[in-house]
Amino acid sequence: MTAIALGADHAGLPLKEDLKAWLIERGHEVVDCGTQSSESVDYPDYAAAVAGAVTAGKAERGILVCGTGIGMAIAANKVPGIRAAACTDAYTARLSREHNDTNVLALGARVTAREAALEILATWLGAEFAGGRHARRVEKLAALDRRKEQSDAPTR
Ligand code: RB5
Repeated sequence: MTAIALGADHAGLPLKEDLKAWLIERGHEVVDCGTQSSESVDYPDYAAAVAGAVTAGKAERGILVCGTGIGMAIAANKVPGIRAAACTDAYTARLSREHNDTNVLALGARVTAREAALEILATWLGAEFAGGRHARRVEKLAALDRRKEQSDAPTR
């Protein structure tokens, strides 16, 4: 089973807890990066924690939950090596794996009900990257990451 990092802000906390229980029931190892309380927090902090767990190899994939999934996806995608998609339906979630090789799924607790979120998650976990022409495109995403890392590197 795949190790999965989970993160949420205050808006996503209840759904994150439901997803965590669902994953554990199915034998997944879960790395819970918080939040653990309903106190208002800032979603980029949790996106960074989950993205870091994935890029460090502590988890193979990450799941992020905020109000809409949008802020989490924006933040996670700023971390080189992360391909995050905010999904509100199972079809998009499946294609995000098959075409984009997403390694982070972002969900919106204010726009997606629990049962729909579980369907999206199950679909996303069960889908495989299709490779082929998509591999060339995902390699171009990696090239963009490398370009950003080079431009961010301190000059002497
Ligand atoms: C928090 O109110 C909300 O802005 C956040 O959960 C998320 O929806 C941002 O994208």
